[in-house]
Amino acid sequence: MEQFYSKLNSSYDVDMLYKRYENYRQEVSHIIKKQLKPRDSVLIVGPGNLNDLDLETFTDQPVHMLDIDLRSVEEGIRRQNHLISDYRLIQGDITGLSKSGFYNNFNLLQLDYDKIEFDFELNQYDLIIILPIYTQILLPQLMMEVSYESLNAYLPLIQERINNFNSLLYRHLNEEGRLVIFSDVLEYKTDQEEAKYLIAHKNHKIILDDFFNSYLNTFGHGLGSYGILDASTKVRQNELGYLVWPFSDDRTMLVQWLSGKK
Ligand SMILES: C[S@@+](CC[C@H](N)C(=O)[O-])C[C@H]1O[C@@H](n2cnc3c(N)ncnc32)[C@H](O)[C@@H]1O
Repeated sequence: MEQFYSKLNSSYDVDMLYKRYENYRQEVSHIIKKQLKPRDSVLIVGPGNLNDLDLETFTDQPVHMLDIDLRSVEEGIRRQNHLISDYRLIQGDITGLSKSGFYNNFNLLQLDYDKIEFDFELNQYDLIIILPIYTQILLPQLMMEVSYESLNAYLPLIQERINNFNSLLYRHLNEEGRLVIFSDVLEYKTDQEEAKYLIAHKNHKIILDDFFNSYLNTFGHGLGSYGILDASTKVRQNELGYLVWPFSDDRTMLVQWLSGKK
């Protein structure tokens, strides 16, 4: 598992992406700054290469980071010229499936539900930040392990694991705690008309809202928007918005973000 994500996280030129994401990173950091208060205890979920968040955002706040692949996180901290020792890094699998035997054969019928448990410990936090992760759990591995036709059979399990993880985070929010979630909800090839439309309207919330809602009406939720939808039933929603993520030369993503309070 850890190796799988380590390979995935380093499967592209990370330093090049760090430069490429500069504007996007500033937009994400700006949204977080608006939610951040002095001395807040902070948890970041899915920091990975830390290409989408400026560590300068945090000044006097203690920051914990949770990811399956801590090697990328350590490199990400170094890339931003920060000290690893200034952060508490937590390695863990947010699906809770690591001890269940599921990763041995991806067999749903043999899944040992009694062994589903989170393999990490969290504190209580004032601000929890979730970076794009819902589309990343299990699906990339399943795409390597099982046929395309059988992927649908795994969706209820992934959704149930997302519900469970969101509930866990909710329990680890202090009273008055805040949650900010960023999640990739749509992806297009950059030369597709849809991508050009998103890029042209990247600062027009109403237009992006219409675009995404008409997609939802036709195709329904994917895992990315499902994660946000589920979280929105748990917290008191504050704001909902969109960002356009210039993911790579040939891929453009629409990211939805939500901020809410306990
Ligand atoms: C798309 S990346 C998020 C973007 C990242 N912040 C960046 O700047 O590149 C998703 C992150 O989720 C982590 N991840 C995926 N599945 C996970 C799991 N089951 N448990 C914990 N972390 C996981 C990956 O290791 C990766 O770092």
